[in-house]
Amino acid sequence: MTKKKQHIRTLAVDIGGSGIKTIVLDEAGEPLTERNRVPTPNPAQPEPVIQAIASLASEQGEFDRVSVGFPGVVRHGVIYTAVNLHPDWVKFNLATVLSERLGKPVRVCNDADIQGLGAIAGVGVELVITLGTGFGTALFVDGKLVPNLEGGHHPFRKGETYEQQLSRTALDEIGKKRWNKRLEKALESWQNMFNCDRIYIGGGEAKKIAIDLPENVTIIPNIHGLLGGIALWKD
Ligand code: BGC
Repeated sequence: MTKKKQHIRTLAVDIGGSGIKTIVLDEAGEPLTERNRVPTPNPAQPEPVIQAIASLASEQGEFDRVSVGFPGVVRHGVIYTAVNLHPDWVKFNLATVLSERLGKPVRVCNDADIQGLGAIAGVGVELVITLGTGFGTALFVDGKLVPNLEGGHHPFRKGETYEQQLSRTALDEIGKKRWNKRLEKALESWQNMFNCDRIYIGGGEAKKIAIDLPENVTIIPNIHGLLGGIALWKD
């Protein structure tokens, strides 16, 4: 009898301001399951969020390791900012706590960085922008990530940051037309800042884009926020 080859399965998790999503990926990063989603608990403190991940995980079948995209600064598994979730996340070691809870190794990275890892070509200067609850950014040079760029919190216009001007809250306040005008200006300013070869736009609100995009800008499906998780295990 031939021995069946063991495949390593990765549970990819995307913690967002409005939803928590999971999927199981094979070693090549191809989905083995459907995407699962629950609303982000409110308040979004560590314990209820971890509980939500554990319950999604229990519905996703077998997996061997976990990758997590988190909407804030993450270094070595520890959370440093979580402006759209809850202040209790600051200094929280998500990698260790989640690993203890799920009994599997866990790696954590900024959500926009993961989105980028799933989408970029790996050539030249590539910028990824995510439009969702927050405004995420990820910068790559020849495929090498500059982690935790956090461009959303940099000044943009009228004394406000990119995130204040282009978040979901801003979109709801000012409507699609004005939001799109702002987005056009934001894209120009990012292009001028980094002279990007390519800009990718992902996130739940990317579907609201109604402007003609410059030739080097591509809209990417939001699923990359999960698929990019495989890259955390590429060493
Ligand atoms: C956070 C970023 C995150 C972005 C998108 C921002 O508020 O600071 O870390 O990538 O939202 O979720």
